[in-house]
Amino acid sequence: MPTDANIMGNVFGGAIMRYMDEIAGLVAWRHAGRNCVTASIDRMSFYAPVYVGNLLILKATVNYVGTTSMEVGVRIEAENLTSGKTTHTGSCHLTFVALNEEGKPIPIVKVFPVTREEKRRFKEAQERRELREREDIVLAKD
Ligand SMILES: CC(C)(COP(=O)(O)OP(=O)(O)OC[C@H]1O[C@@H](n2cnc3c(N)ncnc32)[C@H](O)[C@@H]1OP(=O)(O)O)[C@@H](O)C(=O)NCCC(=O)NCCS
Repeated sequence: MPTDANIMGNVFGGAIMRYMDEIAGLVAWRHAGRNCVTASIDRMSFYAPVYVGNLLILKATVNYVGTTSMEVGVRIEAENLTSGKTTHTGSCHLTFVALNEEGKPIPIVKVFPVTREEKRRFKEAQERRELREREDIVLAKD
């Protein structure tokens, strides 16, 4: 919508990130069956611009579950409604934590990857989790 754009007609990255956080939060909630909060958002890359009038398509999936946290991957596409051409404009990984009624982290149901694609996502998410933990240790030392 025009309210999401700059004067050149490109949609603000921040507007897209808001949708991304919302859809990932919904997917996390649906998986955990309870309220979940965003714990962290990985580096977000924008591969191509999104223009006013494009149909924004967000696809989100739970890639990996630790104990109380899970990684949700979001793929963002923009469809030109006139030509029907769809462009992959960005992707991101977010970590959500399920909270109990006291606002404390609570264990959530695991994911069991079945398809080759699900197994690849699971393994890559596990590797990213290890990377995040290593980064946290480095940041804590700084
Ligand atoms: C996220 C939050 C609940 C974690 O609480 P905490 O007391 O640090 O919890 P713990 O140390 O027990 O960690 C719980 C889980 O979260 C994960 N986690 C905590 N901080 C994380 C971070 N920055 N990035 C990724 N995962 C994180 C831990 O690895 C752990 O995962 P696991 O149970 O699968 O092993 C807490 O920091 C919080 O409430 N943050 C604010 C969230 C919020 O308001 N988000 C909206 C944006 S403002």
